[in-house]
Amino acid sequence: MADLGAAPVPADDPLAGRRVLVGVTGGIAAYKAAILVRLLQHAGAQADVILTRGGARFVGAATFEGLTGRAVRQEVWEDIAGESHVALGRRADTVVVYPATAHTLAKLAGGLADDLLSTTLLAATCPLVLAPAMHTEMWEHPATQHNVALLRERGASIVGPDDGPLMAGDAGPGRLVEPEVALDAVRAALVSGSPRLPDDVPAPVGAGPARRRDLLGTRVLITAGGTREPIDPVRYLGNRSSGRMGFALAAAARDRGAEVTLIAGPSELTTPDGVLRYDVTTALEMHTAVLEHLAAADVVIKAAAVADFRPVAPASSKLKKDQGVPTIELTPNPDILAELGAARSGSDPLLVGFAAETDEVEAGGRAKLQRKGADLLVVNDVSGDDAGFEVDTNRVVILDRAGGRVEVPLADKRTVAERVLDRVVAWRAAGPTGPVADAAGTLTEPR
Ligand code: PMT
Repeated sequence: MADLGAAPVPADDPLAGRRVLVGVTGGIAAYKAAILVRLLQHAGAQADVILTRGGARFVGAATFEGLTGRAVRQEVWEDIAGESHVALGRRADTVVVYPATAHTLAKLAGGLADDLLSTTLLAATCPLVLAPAMHTEMWEHPATQHNVALLRERGASIVGPDDGPLMAGDAGPGRLVEPEVALDAVRAALVSGSPRLPDDVPAPVGAGPARRRDLLGTRVLITAGGTREPIDPVRYLGNRSSGRMGFALAAAARDRGAEVTLIAGPSELTTPDGVLRYDVTTALEMHTAVLEHLAAADVVIKAAAVADFRPVAPASSKLKKDQGVPTIELTPNPDILAELGAARSGSDPLLVGFAAETDEVEAGGRAKLQRKGADLLVVNDVSGDDAGFEVDTNRVVILDRAGGRVEVPLADKRTVAERVLDRVVAWRAAGPTGPVADAAGTLTEPR
């Protein structure tokens, strides 16, 4: 929990001297908005609050008025002569809606303006941060996901939700991010200065390189991390995959406009904002999850390290050392990629596999590409200590089923992810006979 006592204002904080408008909508977590307001003030920002009717059922205007020393606006009709209903949004440097209910997201996505907050949001041209909070079913509903994707396309920054305890004893994705996380998101939005843009305008140029939106509207299913195959309740067969490569792909695809579903083996990594994540443990669970989401995917990228075998009969209690060295009988797991390759009709979805090889790297990758029926196969030599498992960097060759190859020299996994997505975009645009690479620089000419 943040220290909310008096704190010196750091002059170099990007929030210092900036006006931040905090929209508080109706959710049990609305009380956390008071902490966010305090944190904003500690960072030197001036916080104004708009409280919706729903928000006011959970936390009173007096709380925010006490914190900010200014009136909290609630209705369009208040002070109509003194201040226009869009004025707060116009003069804000950033707007953050914390928490943002499913209803608020839907209104904003649909351009509705039936109360002071929605009117203000429609009129504001500054960066917008939205922190969704709702029950898991509401968050995962296609309508909400569609609205979130639409809002992100327009340049809004979506922070969270977290996975954790919810109201009424529920738990799962949908929990409001902590105020400190929201504060960071507001700061980042201010620094990047990314304005909200209409759909047909290219994505904003942020602090980093210009973002391409060449996956706009594309549904990308990504697997990441390793699977664990139980031997007994405490032991498993596993591998060293951290999930970094798959998570980097998820974040890169999201930034290029894709709707991303991530199926992850056990991983400590934080879910990239706006990515829908499903956690699995075993290869069989990953198999089920991939099949469940396959129909809604235009592109499938299998970066996960799936165990090829699992113990036939995991022990129900812990194997004891004094019972001698156990013989563990193994049985093959389904080969998910090969199954998808064999089952698809036509060229949809585009299938991208990975291959972790230690010797005869490219030949091994080429054989896997053919055997598994993928369109593209990303081969990484995992014998070194600067590429492949667990590290932040990778070095790959991207093979395609038309015989093309693109080398990506050692780079951070985000850069490698971008190069893989370049190939995805090029392949989708033109297929095996068209131009093969649209990225300059580090790519070597294929074929
Ligand atoms: O997670 P990191 O620490 O960042 O490490 C990244 C990585 C090294 C795990 C990643 O870059 C990588 O190479 N992933 C694939 C690892 C792997 O399982 O390779 P493979 O050669 O065993 O499998 C080939 C392909 O078949 C893969 O796309 C794999 O997901 C898929 N497969 C394998 C077995 C199986 N039962 N089902 C599958 O779908």
